[in-house]
Amino acid sequence: MKMIQNPHSENMSEQSPLTVLVVGSGGREHTLAWACQKSPLVQRVIAAPGNPGMAKDGCECENVAADNIEEIVQLAVETCVDLVVVGPEVPLSLGLVDALAQAGIMAYGPKADGALFEASKSHTKAFLLKYGIPTGAADSFEDASAAKEYLNTAAYPIVIKADGLAAGKGVIIAEDHETALQTVDDMIVGAKFGESSKTILIEECLVGEETSIHVIVSGSDYIILPTSQDHKPIFEGDKGPNTGGMGAYSPADLIDDTLMQRIEAEIVKPSVDGLVAEGVDYRGTLYIGLMITTTGPKVIEFNVRFGDPETQVLIPRLETDPVEIMLATIKGELGSLDVKIKNDYAITVVLASQGYPESYPKGEIISLPKTLEDNEMVFHAGTKKDADGNILTNGGRVLGATALGSNLHEAAEKAYRLCDRISFDSKYLRRDIGAKELNRQTT
Ligand code: AMP
Ligand code: GLY
Repeated sequence: MKMIQNPHSENMSEQSPLTVLVVGSGGREHTLAWACQKSPLVQRVIAAPGNPGMAKDGCECENVAADNIEEIVQLAVETCVDLVVVGPEVPLSLGLVDALAQAGIMAYGPKADGALFEASKSHTKAFLLKYGIPTGAADSFEDASAAKEYLNTAAYPIVIKADGLAAGKGVIIAEDHETALQTVDDMIVGAKFGESSKTILIEECLVGEETSIHVIVSGSDYIILPTSQDHKPIFEGDKGPNTGGMGAYSPADLIDDTLMQRIEAEIVKPSVDGLVAEGVDYRGTLYIGLMITTTGPKVIEFNVRFGDPETQVLIPRLETDPVEIMLATIKGELGSLDVKIKNDYAITVVLASQGYPESYPKGEIISLPKTLEDNEMVFHAGTKKDADGNILTNGGRVLGATALGSNLHEAAEKAYRLCDRISFDSKYLRRDIGAKELNRQTT
């Protein structure tokens, strides 16, 4: 790749308002761009490629794909960007932050060596085992017959994972031997996920409640963001196939203070120390997927970016300017930053297209509320604008209706009222986002 220097970066004084480029086009990126727009540190927000919701909030959307590293760097240089906020994992794993560093541009998110912790599940598993971090037992295989031989003596259900990135679809929980054998064939022999399933991981099936934490890591310093809870299955009552996430709320009391102390001591601190020991200078979000088992919290996965839709509930709860947190992370000043969180509860309900996560219609006209009340937000995820200015559905997850309230009940009522003010023909949503937590609170 050619080296491009940013002429602006050398003259940038800390006080001058920043131009920020947000990379990505989903609900997570809309939330990050929204936070940048509100920041007193920022004068201009560009998004690549962005979405109509971001444009409505005043972002300049540029038609550059998030994973086109060369063009993103070029855009950042040409528009004199001071800070790039990278939303999705793919550009991170393709080395976008490395390329921006070469061009002298600050970026929030790990370099490729850090992004490998999402891009290779066997890499992460080896790391977790090396540093004694609790996780499910697993072996990796490149050879289908060796994998099948291993399956002969396995206990079922068992989890089979494509090693590489597979847009959240690369994990199969095989209930029986036959399904497991078929999955090995599909992944290794049939190359179901291309290069990503050349290597597979066969992993013990963990039982318990699934949750996650977000850690902002800056070298050896870190802060743990407030708790949040995603709802992955498509149907109410956590039934049906997994999606990218149908809604989230924060804080989530499943992780109480005692459990959080244990997660920090057994998982977060050893992981951050391990990254340092491995020579990885990680500066960005580390999303740790967890299973809370009867023997304690265990790591399911690392993601190297903010969760979606967790971002939609975490970012609005930050009292401290998220841009200040990102800058401190990049500059190694996170240890001295006092990050303040609002007392409010936040909830996001995802409005999806009927049929997601399988096939679903696109191009339906969306009717959105003309005005929003305080503490209501509509984050766009899969939308596009037509020539007449209509906002159309353009993805499985279309919008995230977000609300803040002084308690979870109030936040949920507001978010669902907001959902009722949005319409499109195939609108589908789960009506039970946060319900488990509300039941816990009332019993
Ligand atoms: P991952 O891509 O690793 O997050 O896996 C996707 C989903 O598969 C997770 O969110 C879990 O619901 C499930 N999963 C992954 N690994 C395991 C495991 N070892 N035991 C049980 N469920 C798992
Ligand atoms: N909501 C789950 C994820 O972002 O990976």
